[in-house]
Amino acid sequence: MLDIYTLDDEVLREDTEKVTVFDNSLKMLVDAMFDTLVEADGVGLAAPQIGVSKKFFIVDLRRGDDSRYVFINPEIIETSMEEGPYEEGCLSIPGFYREVIRPLRVKVQAQDLNGKYFTIDADGLLARVIQHENDHLNKTLFIDHLTPEEKEKVEKAFRKKNRRKRKNG
Ligand code: NI
Repeated sequence: MLDIYTLDDEVLREDTEKVTVFDNSLKMLVDAMFDTLVEADGVGLAAPQIGVSKKFFIVDLRRGDDSRYVFINPEIIETSMEEGPYEEGCLSIPGFYREVIRPLRVKVQAQDLNGKYFTIDADGLLARVIQHENDHLNKTLFIDHLTPEEKEKVEKAFRKKNRRKRKNG
């Protein structure tokens, strides 16, 4: 399993670079990310979360192979005017969930593991996860969408919880 970096790890706030080489080591890394994602019981994982400052993320909606996606160098090219709330969590801020308002539908263009371009019109959970993961490539976490007060509350509670965890472990 790969280590998942959390809230106070600087790699989550660093610039990411475009992927230019679509080789076997990228495929192996993506495979390891899917294993890590399943193990962590999440639905999405972005490269910065495993300490890699590159523009790609994966999604696994847990509905079989049809619900697995790899987005490399993604660009959200359209978003719906219609927005809605959804309770989000993040493997980098485990245990904390907050409602975030985002567009309900997005159109995203990206490359696959072979470098081939594709476009997806997404709605529902997929649209939500794409936007959350794409944020990670732009050094943004879901708590950045909250009010400053609410964001600070989550950060403080996370740090308190993890201090305690470190002491006990
Ligand atoms: Ni996340």
